[in-house]
Amino acid sequence: MFSQKLLIRLKNAFNVTVLTGAGISADSGIPTFRGPDGLWKDQEVEKLATLEALENEPEVFWEFYNWRRQLLKDIKPNFAHFSLVDIENYFEDFTLITQNVDNLHAIAGNKNLVELHGNITRNRCTSCDHIVPMEQMAEQAIPYCDKCGAIMKPDVVLFGEPLNPKLLRQAQTASAECEVFFSIGTSSVVEPAASLPYIAKANGAYIVEINPESTPLTENADEVINIPAAKALTALVLILDRIR
Ligand code: OAD
Ligand code: ZN
Repeated sequence: MFSQKLLIRLKNAFNVTVLTGAGISADSGIPTFRGPDGLWKDQEVEKLATLEALENEPEVFWEFYNWRRQLLKDIKPNFAHFSLVDIENYFEDFTLITQNVDNLHAIAGNKNLVELHGNITRNRCTSCDHIVPMEQMAEQAIPYCDKCGAIMKPDVVLFGEPLNPKLLRQAQTASAECEVFFSIGTSSVVEPAASLPYIAKANGAYIVEINPESTPLTENADEVINIPAAKALTALVLILDRIR
């Protein structure tokens, strides 16, 4: 499944960076955005997950996000998430960058985690940036800020919003500095995350893609493992146990 070349790289690597997308949570039962079972076939979503929707139709916006939160309530990390916790422990310098907002990497226990698109389990005030974690949220159809009264949004990047520049810089630095870069369960089409493997490659990293389907990254990766993430990463942990 893994090439000899990759194993030699991993045996000696100090610095490893991983980028994940919705595919890593597929085995937990969360639908991906794109693809046959993706949320995105319901085109409404692209209009709903926007600041305009929050301003113009707050009831509908919040009904949508409350529904997405409800979906996540009984969802747990899968073997792919747990394997990444083990993998983190094998390397001196390990960064996990995720585009997912589902909180599953944090629940699984990864330590050096960059949540590039935010986290749906928190609310953020649209005016004063006050943060409220889910456990402390009052039962409200539309949440308003306790500090300033403005409307709250889920602490995720909406369509048309810029990413947090500090997190983006952290992700770009981790990509530039790594020796091996894994792209796992992402369709590799959404920028700026889609550029991270190219930053890594330009700086000499070995690029590994784990995805049962082809993506725009596939032909530029040094190695492609086209099986589900949980299966590939469980095997990788067994190998790291032998070689590190
Ligand atoms: P997508 O839904 O675009 O892509 C999911 C990828 O996971 C596809 O390439 C699938 O082939 C792959 N996949 C499915 N099952 C898998 C499995 N078991 N193991 C490994 N891979 C599997 O999701 P993302 O690439 O994460 O942004 O989407 C990127 C961003 O688009 C999201 O973060 C979201 C959306 O706009 C925001 O909300 C800001
Ligand atoms: Zn506020």
